Amino acid sequence: MSIEISYDPSLLVAQGRALLDDERDPIANAANLAALIFGSLERLNWAGFYRMHAGELVLGPFQGKAACTRIAVGRGVCGTAVAESRTLVVPDVEAFPGHIACDNASRSELVVPLVRAGVVIGVIDCDSPELDRFGSTEREAIEALAALFVAGSDAF
Ligand code: SME
Repeated sequence: MSIEISYDPSLLVAQGRALLDDERDPIANAANLAALIFGSLERLNWAGFYRMHAGELVLGPFQGKAACTRIAVGRGVCGTAVAESRTLVVPDVEAFPGHIACDNASRSELVVPLVRAGVVIGVIDCDSPELDRFGSTEREAIEALAALFVAGSDAF
């Protein structure tokens, strides 16, 4: 199989749907979605997944620099998104109490929880070196990809 993708933000959700078609392996799907997001959205320095495992977030497939492997629920932007089971858009990470700096270049962040049957099973995390990088367009696209991932993948 060959996959040719033109990385275009307006095609992000449609391409995500196509990538997940006929594949339910959660690692394969998370890896491809991380590559798709990182390649499609401009001015990102990190995009990827953390999955809930034994009560904490554990690093999953991603693109960008090596990152912290474990995040407790309630800690950082990711752990707070899990604790509150909602998307967090942080325009300035330095103004977010408890932000965990995996890459010092990060200035703004978008975290979308992955929710299956009312339970948070992980998050998609996007970081940008630009302040206020994430607006409603990016938020809605990543939320749509999160829903596609949960519906189209087996359990982590
Ligand atoms: N900044 C995140 C940690 C994960 S890295 O950005 C990849 C946080 O505060 O939870």
